[in-house]
Parts: sequence; C-alpha cells; structure tokens
Amino acid sequence: MKKINIAIDGFSSCGKSTMAKGLAKELGYTYIDTGAMYRAAALYAIRNGWMTEETMEEETIRESMGQLDISFRKDSKGNQNTYLNGEDVESEIRSLEVSNGASRISTLPFVRSTLVSLQQKMAEKGGVVMDGRDIGTVVMPDAELKIFLTASPEVRANRRFKEMLDKGENPKFEDVLHNVMERDQRDTMREASPLRKADDAIELDNSHMGIKEQFEWALEQAKKIKSV
Ligand code: DC
Repeated sequence: MKKINIAIDGFSSCGKSTMAKGLAKELGYTYIDTGAMYRAAALYAIRNGWMTEETMEEETIRESMGQLDISFRKDSKGNQNTYLNGEDVESEIRSLEVSNGASRISTLPFVRSTLVSLQQKMAEKGGVVMDGRDIGTVVMPDAELKIFLTASPEVRANRRFKEMLDKGENPKFEDVLHNVMERDQRDTMREASPLRKADDAIELDNSHMGIKEQFEWALEQAKKIKSV
C-alpha cells in the first residue's frame, strides 16, 4: 500500500509526539520530532555562549549553521534519541532552559530555513509522521493527512508538570504554566512561519481525551486516507 505523509501540528505540550509516535509505530512509519531539532540548535547556541536568558548573538548563530549536524538514532529499546554532532543530547534538550531557547531560536528565519530543508529531505520518500508547528503549512504542505491539536494552557502545563515530576525533577507549577504561555505567545506571534492551522488540517481539542482515545481517533483518520 502507498505510504502517505502525516503532519501533526499544535501548541507545546499538546500530546503531538505521543500521537505521532503511536501512529508511526502502528503504521511502520518513521517518526520525526522537529521540535527536537530546534531544541538541539538551541542547545548548541547555549553551550557556546551565543544565547543567554537575555541575549542571542544572531550573526554568530547564522555563521555556525553549517556546523550543525542533527540526526535521530534508535537505542536498544527502540526509543528514538536526538543527536547533535554525534552526541546523544536527548535528555539535555528537554530542560526548561533549552525549551525556552528553542522557542527563541526558532524565530530566526535562517534557522528555520536550514531545519525545514533537512525535514523536507527526511520526508521525500513518504511514510513519515512529523510533528511540529509548521509541518502542515510549510514543511509538508502536500501531506495526505494533517492534524492540528489543541488543549487549554492549564491542561498542557499540568501534563508537562507531571512528566517532569516523573523524571525526578522538582518544578513549580506556576513556572511550567508561565513557560507554556510564553511559548504559545512566541510560537503564534513570530513573523517567520507562525503556528497556525493549515486550511486542510483536521482540528482536535484533546483537553478531555485520554491517550488511547486520541490515538484511535488519529488512526481512524489515517485509515480513511490509506483506503482511498
Ligand atoms: O515541540 P517542542 O516543544 O519540542 O518544540 C520546541 C520549540 O521549537 C517550540 O517552542 C517551537 C519550536 N518549533 C518550531 O518553531 N517549529 C517546529 N516545527 C517545531 C518546533
């Protein structure tokens, strides 16, 4: 059967990656976490001192884009990890500092164009489930299935808060909520490819849905297309 491409966009901590990973596994497709790519770019800038909480050295970041090698590899348990210049940075890129950095670095048009080209190359052959903010609008405008996920900021902050507790971190709920809202603002207001629903995307508000229910809904959508 023909392999389609599936685009999943939406706000941060909306469950995009859980849905995308589940679909990729079920369909035997490749999952691509584009947020992880912006996170890796941010980590590179932070480590080199080009981005602090107050500053961002745009010119230096622009000149360094050619040094960035971002890829994904599966570990022995089948989890997909993000690599930056050959180093596994999967857990480091999930910190609040890098989350914030990713949201800021992703406003730079030259960062976006570099990563978008890489993402488009990864999707060339089809059979990809990709999640992000601009997948249905910019990266894969021809994707056969486009899903746009939403949920209230409080619900999303609560999900993120629990994930962090599970990892043994000790966050304050207000900080997590503040971070979610700040990123929403930046993701939707930035000039370069702001987060918006593609005209042909199907919207799902999952504030009151469980993971299994959402997965089944998404699989149903994919099956409808695959059987056309
Ligand atoms: O999905 P995420 O939270 O891991 O994404 C991290 C940041 O990267 C997010 O604040 C917005 C940005 N991003 C983007 O601008 N475009 C994408 N396709 C994916 C993420």
